[in-house]
Amino acid sequence: MRIVVVGCGHVGVTTGVCLAHCGYSVTLMDVDERRVRDLAQGTLPFFEEGLEPLLAGNAERLTFTTDIGAITAADVCILAVPSPSPRNQAGAVDLSFVLAAVEGMAGVLTERTHPDPLLIVNKCTVPVGSGQLISEVLRRALDGAPSGVAREVECRPRYVVTSCPEFLREGDAVQDTLHPDRLILGADDPEAGIRLERLYEPIITRSFPLVPGTPPASPPRPAVMLTTLVAAEMIKYAANSFLATKLSFINEMAGLCSAVGASVDDVSDGIGLDRRIGSRYLRAGLGWGGSCLGKDLQALMATAREYQLDTPLLRAVVTVNDRQRGVVLRLLQEELRVVRGTRIGLLGLAFKAGTDDLRDAPSLEIADQLIAAGASVAAFDPAVTAVPRPELAVLESVEQVAIGSDALVIVTEWPEFARLDWIRLADVMRRRVLIDGRNLVDRAAAEAAGFRYRGIGR
Ligand SMILES: NC(=O)c1ccc[n+]([C@@H]2O[C@H](COP(=O)([O-])OP(=O)(O)OC[C@H]3O[C@@H](n4cnc5c(N)ncnc54)[C@H](O)[C@@H]3O)[C@@H](O)[C@H]2O)c1
Repeated sequence: MRIVVVGCGHVGVTTGVCLAHCGYSVTLMDVDERRVRDLAQGTLPFFEEGLEPLLAGNAERLTFTTDIGAITAADVCILAVPSPSPRNQAGAVDLSFVLAAVEGMAGVLTERTHPDPLLIVNKCTVPVGSGQLISEVLRRALDGAPSGVAREVECRPRYVVTSCPEFLREGDAVQDTLHPDRLILGADDPEAGIRLERLYEPIITRSFPLVPGTPPASPPRPAVMLTTLVAAEMIKYAANSFLATKLSFINEMAGLCSAVGASVDDVSDGIGLDRRIGSRYLRAGLGWGGSCLGKDLQALMATAREYQLDTPLLRAVVTVNDRQRGVVLRLLQEELRVVRGTRIGLLGLAFKAGTDDLRDAPSLEIADQLIAAGASVAAFDPAVTAVPRPELAVLESVEQVAIGSDALVIVTEWPEFARLDWIRLADVMRRRVLIDGRNLVDRAAAEAAGFRYRGIGR
C-alpha cells in the first residue's frame, strides 16, 4: 500500500514513520514548507523520544512533499491536521484546517489514477459527525467538477471516508503507535473496514522489526474493534472524557486526604488495585493539561448541548481541574505568607514529561497566577527553552532557578526532578520551600535537606 499522511505534526509524523517502519511506502505531506524541508533532512519539528532515529532508520521508505497531488497515486490518505478550539469559545472546534485539507484533496481527486477508491483515514479529533461532513464536502466538490466527473463518481467512488481515532500520548508516541492497547476502526462501508484492517495488519500481528528500547517484553496484541464511523468518533471523545474524570476524581480525593490526614498516594494505590478501577490516570497532581483532554471534554459537552442534553458530570470534571491549578498559589501563601516580592522557581513547563508541548500547560497558568500575585518567576524544563510569556524567565538548569529563590515548585513529572541534590539546592536558596505538584519527590530526602515540603494530598 502507498500511504500519504496529510499533516506533519505529532500524530502525522509518528503515524507515518511507524507505518514506514512496518514496511509501507509513506509520503508525509504538509503545507509548511520549512517543516517538510527539515523532515526531509531528518530533523523533527518537535521533540518526541525515539522518533528521530526511527525517521532516519526508515528514510528509504519515506518521502516528503507540500503537494497534495501525492494522493492521486495513493491507496490510503491519513488525515492528521490540527483541530484546535478557538480561544474563548469553549466547546467549539476549528474545522478550518480539516476542511482546507479536504478541499485540497477534492481538487486533485479527479486526477486520481489509482483503480481503488482512496481510503481516507481520519485521525483528527473532530466533533461527532465530522466524517459524514468530510464525505459531503468531497461529494459536493466532485459534483461541481468539470463535466463527466460526477457521473463517473456515482458508478466508481473515488474515495471512502473512515475514522481511526488517535490515542497516542506525546512522550510515548512511538510506543503507543506500534503497541496500542486497541485499534478502533470506524467505517460504514464493509469493504473499507476490511481495507483498514489490512492497513493495520503489521501492527495487529506485531510483524515489524523491534525498535530498541520501546517494546515491552511481550505485550499482548492490540484489541481490534471494527465499528461505525460515528461510534469511532464518539469513542475518542468518551475515552478522553473518562481519563479526565479519573484525574479530577483523584485530585478531589487529594483535597479530602489533606483534610483527614490520609496520603492520597496510598488511597490511589488502594483503589487502583481493584481491577475494575485500575491504577493508571489515578495520580494526584496539578491537574490535566495538553492539547487534548480539555478541548475534547468541551467539545463533547458542546455536542450534548446541540442535542439539548445536560452533562453535569463533565462540567464538574472541568471545575475540579480549574480549581486544582490554583493549589500552588494557595500552598505558597500558606508557607511564605506574603508572596509579593518573592522569587519562585518552577521545575517543568511542558504539560507532561517527555514532550516540549506547552498547549494548555498548567505551568503557564500557575506562572500567570504567581506573577499576578507579585512574585517573580523563573523556570527550567529539560525540553522547553522558550515560552510565550516575557515575564517568565526560562533558565538553563535547576541550579540557576534555585539561586536566590524562596520556593521551588515541581510542575512537570520529569523523572530527573525526583533525583535532585536537595542539599546543594537548599544551599543556594533564600528560603527552602518545596511544593511538589506531582508527588514525585522523596519527602524525607527534601526535609532532611531543610526544605518545608508540601505535596498534593500527601
Ligand atoms: N498531539 C496529540 O497528542 C494528539 C493525540 C490524539 C489526537 N490528536 C489529534 O490529531 C490531530 C493532529 O494533532 P497534532 O498534535 O499532530 O497537530 P500538530 O499541530 O502537531 O500538527 C499538525 C500539522 O498539520 C499541518 N497542516 C495544517 N493544515 C494543513 C493542511 N491543510 N494540509 C497539510 N498539513 C496541514 C500543520 O502545518 C502541522 O504541521 C488533531 O486533530 C488532534 O486533536 C492529537
